[in-house]
Amino acid sequence: MKSSLEDTLLAAIRTIPDYPRPGILFRDITTLLGDARAFRRAIDELVHPYAGLKIDKIAGIEARGFILGGAVAHQLSAGFVPIRKKGKLPYETVRVAYSLEYGLDEMEMHKDGVSPGEKVILVDDLIATGGTAEAAVKLLRQIGADIVAACFVIDLPDLGGRQKLEALGVPVRTLIGFE
Ligand code: PRP
Ligand code: ADE
Repeated sequence: MKSSLEDTLLAAIRTIPDYPRPGILFRDITTLLGDARAFRRAIDELVHPYAGLKIDKIAGIEARGFILGGAVAHQLSAGFVPIRKKGKLPYETVRVAYSLEYGLDEMEMHKDGVSPGEKVILVDDLIATGGTAEAAVKLLRQIGADIVAACFVIDLPDLGGRQKLEALGVPVRTLIGFE
């Protein structure tokens, strides 16, 4: 019998206590990526609401959002645009500061990564406080993207990220939550 999506993802995601800081339960998707069936299932679930919507670009957030976002872009026949930690992109960028569950950082994207009015889906592995995704939304909107949705494999609902994005008018899709 086919296991439920939730069972498949729960079995494939590894939890590491106290990484990268004491008190953090790190949800490690490398085990999911290494499991061909779980990886395919996660990608299929992420993309299916967007098939046929003529999505122009997938914006993937460094680093784990690159892996998932690349697969989602391929499946939707969309382009891929990287949103990166500062200082990694070679051309002119737009930049924004943000905070996350365990620190502060800045991220940027190429200013021509998306053309005004293009339909974009934001992809990352996990939403926690939503600070990272909120920063990505600000960057994308600065250059005129039409953000259709943001999707994540994992939600940490206690940290309120979904509400933060929805307050910005971005529909959020997640596959599994960890309290
Ligand atoms: C993780 C995760 C998300 C972000 C979520 O990335 O992949 O991008 O944190 O946290 P937030 O919702 O509280 O902002 P991280 O910053 O650890 O970077 P990495 O993928 O490069 O390891
Ligand atoms: N990013 C922010 N919080 C995280 C967590 N608990 N596990 C994995 N990535 C994260």
